[in-house]
Amino acid sequence: MRTHFCGLVDESLIGSSVTLCGWADVARNLGGVCFIDLRDHEGIVQVVAEPDNPAYAQACEVGYEDALRVTGTVRARHSINERLKTGRVEVVAERIEIVNPARNLPYHFHENPGEDLRLRYRHLDLRRPEMQRMLRTRTRLVQALRRWLDARGFQDIETPILTKATPEGARDFLVPARLHPGEFYALPQSPQLFKQILMVAGFDRYYQIARCFRDEALRADRQLEFTQLDMEFAWVTEREVQDCVEAMIRDVFSEVAGIELPAPFPRMPYAEAMRRYGSDKPDLRIPLELVDVAAQVKGCGFKVFSDWAADPGGRVAVLRCPGAAVWSRRQIDEMAAHAAKFGAKGLAWIKVEDRGRGREGLNSPIAKFLDDATLEAVLDAAGAASGDLLLFGAGPYRTVCDFMGAVRLRAGQELGLVENAWRPLWVTDFPMFEWDEEAGRFVALHHPFTAPAVDDIAELRASPGLAVSRGYDMVLNGNEVGGGSIRIHRPEMQRAVFDLLGIGAQEAEAKFGFLLEALQHGAPPHGGIAFGIDRLAALLAGTDSIRDVIAFPKTTTAQCLMTGAPSPIDAEQLREVHVAVLRD
Ligand code: AMO
Ligand code: AMP
Repeated sequence: MRTHFCGLVDESLIGSSVTLCGWADVARNLGGVCFIDLRDHEGIVQVVAEPDNPAYAQACEVGYEDALRVTGTVRARHSINERLKTGRVEVVAERIEIVNPARNLPYHFHENPGEDLRLRYRHLDLRRPEMQRMLRTRTRLVQALRRWLDARGFQDIETPILTKATPEGARDFLVPARLHPGEFYALPQSPQLFKQILMVAGFDRYYQIARCFRDEALRADRQLEFTQLDMEFAWVTEREVQDCVEAMIRDVFSEVAGIELPAPFPRMPYAEAMRRYGSDKPDLRIPLELVDVAAQVKGCGFKVFSDWAADPGGRVAVLRCPGAAVWSRRQIDEMAAHAAKFGAKGLAWIKVEDRGRGREGLNSPIAKFLDDATLEAVLDAAGAASGDLLLFGAGPYRTVCDFMGAVRLRAGQELGLVENAWRPLWVTDFPMFEWDEEAGRFVALHHPFTAPAVDDIAELRASPGLAVSRGYDMVLNGNEVGGGSIRIHRPEMQRAVFDLLGIGAQEAEAKFGFLLEALQHGAPPHGGIAFGIDRLAALLAGTDSIRDVIAFPKTTTAQCLMTGAPSPIDAEQLREVHVAVLRD
């Protein structure tokens, strides 16, 4: 149908006849001459038809986004367009076929119609060069990862989509089993248990580009179905897993986007990340840190501070925002509203207008509650200088981390302090368990198959709240791009961990009997990791939203605006799968 791609027509073709196919990006008639910007996946080339040209009449009929086939002769362009790859040439049309006109376009192609319309008419949205670029970046990422792993003996093995629940902390998507009335398959939240069993089965090194399904709240970096690069290794230590995949990520970033990541990635224990950055995925591009001031405000006159400073489960922390003393009341209120979204009950502040003048140099609603010595001690601890704004958080430890971590990110952005760099790190030494107030029991911080650092059941049982796991996350510029762990490989330890998680012996047998059996048949020590392909692709493509690197993503309300999924099922189909719908 065609001889060349639009975007690849160049000066070497001057004088040749070409046939091109693509869409009319722009069609205009200027002073009696028709110009069409013809676009395909490689780029745009200008097509011209003058009044004495046989294709002129047809050229005048062309509208935006019509599908065209054009035959013509390449010639040098008078007015060179340096912004176009093909800007030194144009194609003088001899024949223009409007193969399929574009009618009733829902919006003008060159407008930004808002994400709902873009998702509804995704075929038009994906035609845009920017979307083409981002999805093609994703393809190159996956190709590079596969090449890297294939060259190192990793086995690419598929695992089931219709399966049994594997708990990764989200709700399962269920599929009714027609042949087994009242029974359901679960879609995998990850291939976790299958990959562990592949290690017991002797495959040694495994990977899979695996689709995962999690029924959880959606955000810019979360989808209901997403893609992991899932990996597992037998006979390994955490350091071996980390070194291997760190080299992989470094090589692939260099190959796909020319990004040179630092070597080696720094490592930081979870507790330190929470203390300094209020987050287990710290964005190290922002040079601001939280400072604890419980010791300084203990017994002070501001009750919110003194109460939380005295509470062993509490935290009082300050963030120094350099140069932000000039912020308006409204700016501070907006920051407090942002903090409130992450659980803050308030965001106390001190403007340090002149550090040399003691109390006189401060502007703050809480200064009156603090005596001179306390004020000085707090300012010293924060490292405050004239011109700074100090923001304070007090409350339960985890809550303060969450909202002060969010405040840190936003302050860093507003103050223009985000370094233009790539700052990866490993976060390690996660707690094994977290106490879930609502459920009144421990839940696994990573997943229930992660090994504890102590290989002693009695010791683990003695103080589960203090136990550290052998889990690790790879974090890049504030994104958790990968998470993994060394697994439990002895059935007794796995049973003990289930027990601590409130999964009784019977339930463990019913849900995970197959795993416990496999572990007792000579399971080797093993461990692995999974990377979020969508998140890696978004970083490489330079976008904030993983929806931009997923061809057909769901909205934050969990819908596909193009197909209309989810949608009702007719009664007959429901009966076949033995399902009745409850409406409440
Ligand atoms: P985890 O749950 O940490 O680990 O997931 C691994 C990585 O997958 C990505 N990710 C997501 N991406 C988009 N949308 C989502 N809803 C979503 N959830 C997770 C993240 C995350 O780092 N089985 C374990 C891995 C292991 O232990 O080997 C697991 O799934 O980038
Ligand atoms: P109040 O006495 O409640 O008016 O609070 C005085 C100041 O302390 C206000 O600026 C509040 O935003 C702030 N504040 C209240 N609770 C907290 C808290 N838990 N952490 C930090 N600041 C708080």
